[in-house]
Amino acid sequence: MIIRTAVLGLLLGLATAPALAAEQDPQTGFIIAPGWETVRNNCTACHSSKLVTQNSGSRQHWLSLIRWMQEKQGLWTFDAQTEETILGYLSTAYGPKTGARRPPLTADQLPDNPYRQPSN
Ligand code: HEC
Repeated sequence: MIIRTAVLGLLLGLATAPALAAEQDPQTGFIIAPGWETVRNNCTACHSSKLVTQNSGSRQHWLSLIRWMQEKQGLWTFDAQTEETILGYLSTAYGPKTGARRPPLTADQLPDNPYRQPSN
């Protein structure tokens, strides 16, 4: 019974809040998932890990950031397998967000706009 409850809780936890429930490295804040050490080793030399963890996006987005850093910021080239590990980790642990932005405020929640035309 206890085991059943624990398993259920685990399943629910994983199903509802994978990003929040995910274990993080206390030093860098990186979500612990396959490839995280490779990312830590390659992505914190020039800037904070926070710059990585506060971003999110598709594999293509992460690849374009890496190419930009390689072209403009002196990021070294990765062998194919390392690049694969990094892209796999980033696009999974920090993949595209859906609905991360709050909805816009409605007119009655906004301060008065002195420039608003009467027709609006
Ligand atoms: C050789 C230095 C260097 C390394 C190593 C490096 N970066 Fe960067 N990265 C930069 C610089 C410089 C910037 C721009 C910082 C700024 O805007 O203050 C940057 C910016 C970023 C940004 C923010 C981009 C934006 O839209 O503003 C992200 C995300 C990022 N890096 C991720 C990574 C990842 C992931 C790795 C590992 C694959 C990595 N970085 C490794 C130099 C590096």
